[in-house]
Amino acid sequence: MEFFIDTANLDEIREIKEWGILSGVTTNPSLIAKEGDVEFEDVIKQITEMVPGPISAEVISLEAEGMVKEARELAKIGDNVVIKIPMTPEGLSAVKTLSAEGIKTNVTLVFSANQALLAARAGATFVSPFVGRLDDIGMDGMQLVKDIADIFKIFNIETKIISASIRHPEHVLAAAKAGSDIATVPYDVLKKMVKHPKTDEGIERFLADWESRN
Ligand code: E4P
Repeated sequence: MEFFIDTANLDEIREIKEWGILSGVTTNPSLIAKEGDVEFEDVIKQITEMVPGPISAEVISLEAEGMVKEARELAKIGDNVVIKIPMTPEGLSAVKTLSAEGIKTNVTLVFSANQALLAARAGATFVSPFVGRLDDIGMDGMQLVKDIADIFKIFNIETKIISASIRHPEHVLAAAKAGSDIATVPYDVLKKMVKHPKTDEGIERFLADWESRN
């Protein structure tokens, strides 16, 4: 499983990129808004220059025509831009058009395996099942990832699964076990994943022993 970071914060991306584990970035309108008074296209451009992998930028339009128009403009920012399209009938239609033009798409706000299958058949490059938001309403978000992975395997579907709305390290582990191609992980969860008290304790003991040698 590969790792994307789910943020529009350039410092967070820069820091995690240094770990050498980052394959891409996902943003959404909420994450961009969190960055304050910034120019959307400018932030996306800076991210595309920082990380060579797929960078998801989301459209705002709700009609297919508007989505396609926005997508064509966003795609000009860089070869690695992926257009995030919401999972609606209009969104599917936009995905079909964009995929025929060779523009990569990430169908977002996926909450059922049927939605994922429809998105894949429309030509989506990626689908993003939202694990945490399903857990929030008392459902099993990870079961959705497992179902999509099973279905895509049965039919040899090439659309990649991005486990999204990840809230804690256990989600990441479960996504990997479920066969998710990618997990898009918030900065704070990545930081938690890298830490283990026994690692810190081990380093301390090795150093203390080294210092006390004769
Ligand atoms: C995915 O691409 C979304 O940006 C993100 O994972 C949404 O997560 P949230 O439910 O924590 O907002």
